[in-house]
Amino acid sequence: MATEKHFKYVVLGGGVAGGYAAREFAKQGVQPGELAIISREAVAPYERPALSKAYLFPQNPARLPGFHVCVGSGGERLLPEWYSEKGIELILNTEIVKADLASKTLTSAAGATFTYEILLIATGSSVIKLSDFGTQGADSNNILYLREVDDADKLYAAIQAKKGGKAVVVGGGYIGLELSAVLKMNNLDVTMVFPEPWCMPRLFTAEIAAFYESYYTNKGVKIVKGTVAVGFDADANGDVTAVKLKDGSVLEADIVVVGVGGRPLTTLFKGQVAEEKGGIKTDASFETSVPGVYAVGDVATFPMKIYNDVRRVEHVDHSRKSAEQAVKAIKGKESGEAVPEYDYLPYFYSRSFDLSWQFYGDNVGEAVLFGDSDPASAKPKFGSYWIKDGKVVGAFLEGGSGDENGLIAKVARAQPPVSSIEELKQDGLLFASKI
Ligand code: FDA
Ligand code: NAD
Repeated sequence: MATEKHFKYVVLGGGVAGGYAAREFAKQGVQPGELAIISREAVAPYERPALSKAYLFPQNPARLPGFHVCVGSGGERLLPEWYSEKGIELILNTEIVKADLASKTLTSAAGATFTYEILLIATGSSVIKLSDFGTQGADSNNILYLREVDDADKLYAAIQAKKGGKAVVVGGGYIGLELSAVLKMNNLDVTMVFPEPWCMPRLFTAEIAAFYESYYTNKGVKIVKGTVAVGFDADANGDVTAVKLKDGSVLEADIVVVGVGGRPLTTLFKGQVAEEKGGIKTDASFETSVPGVYAVGDVATFPMKIYNDVRRVEHVDHSRKSAEQAVKAIKGKESGEAVPEYDYLPYFYSRSFDLSWQFYGDNVGEAVLFGDSDPASAKPKFGSYWIKDGKVVGAFLEGGSGDENGLIAKVARAQPPVSSIEELKQDGLLFASKI
């Protein structure tokens, strides 16, 4: 018989935000049996960024339970036992297929129902698939995507099965750059294909991208720009053998990894909550248009106070902090204590090969490159500032130390005025150190 369960608090989604929300609930105090985390995944919340990096390393790859939350931000690692010790019910392998916010009821694929008083939506994103666009042959075997640990296991198995083979990476964003690197580290012959004139155009300027493209090329990654995959060939077993590009060329492939963007998982709530900019609209406490329903992480479109704007952010730092803020707000409402306003400074990062960059703030206005961006340097270290209305509003740094990354974060937050672009270019990090 289908089960029915009631909880005071339900977190829907056991990813990064779900895990950090659980920790914050425990910090603020929950009674045993009050809180449930419901997740489609089979494992307790973990630090998703590991999947495109250490999980796929050729030597000593990271595996669970090594990277459960909250190790990614230097916190305690929450093993499944932690949830049971705290009386938090971790309901895994459970996909919610219906959410009725009016009756405060969630229904799983197996027909179980969960009712709640407060709901925290933390469903994250799903990958956009080439089959969504009807790309011919996109359902062939070994055309792989990466979002969850199961996807990473399939990718790892394919890498082992196709040792020394050819890999084509479709997409030039985060997944494209991180996966091209890790596939190359696994000695595959890697070609990366993307439609734009340079990689990661949503953040990188042409100059920043030129560094990464040269660095990758020097590592043996081939880069094909300005075109897209329009079809795939497969053998009699259905295994992919080639990628057909719009420009007419054909790339042989044993493995294809696709990273053409994510889509926030909001469908369960369509027509029930206000939406904006592709996400669920929230206030500064991450409460949605429905009282008692909160949305955090990738799905939330929230007020970004520093820019007097509303935005959605698909990065791990925000998923952690938004979850913590929402739980503080929920508990603060109960106790009548005011919670400081959420004042988020965007922070993104990536790592690949021996490279590591951080970005803080907003990448708008004029970009000014500084430092050593020669990809052949033994230890390249360079950055960029973005200047809008005479003030630095964003800062990027490749190869920085912890302290140096702290400096660029400070600059992006302080938004100091710039008197001379030339001086800024010359001073580079020195400018940040004076703030
Ligand atoms: P997240 O995706 O983490 O969790 C959502 C959870 O909800 C999943 O467990 C999912 O199964 C579950 N779920 C969804 N619908 C459900 C339903 N109907 N029923 C039950 N469960 C459901 N960012 C960054 O800043 N630096 C980095 O290096 C990386 N690296 C990186 C690598 C890879 C491979 C990915 C995919 C993403 C990153 N990111 C990143 C982005 C970052 O991981 C992402 O922004 C956060 O994981 C978002 O956290 P959420 O909790 O919102 O979603
Ligand atoms: P993305 O938005 O970073 O990049 C998508 C890229 O897809 C575009 O830059 C473009 O080059 C390409 N593209 C779009 N349509 C295409 C087409 N038809 N054919 C070929 N290429 C096409 O998305 P992603 O790299 O897929 O990442 C998915 C999600 O995971 C995002 O939310 C991202 O923020 C997150 N992620 C973040 C990190 C990080 O922050 N370090 C790492 C991995 C993943």
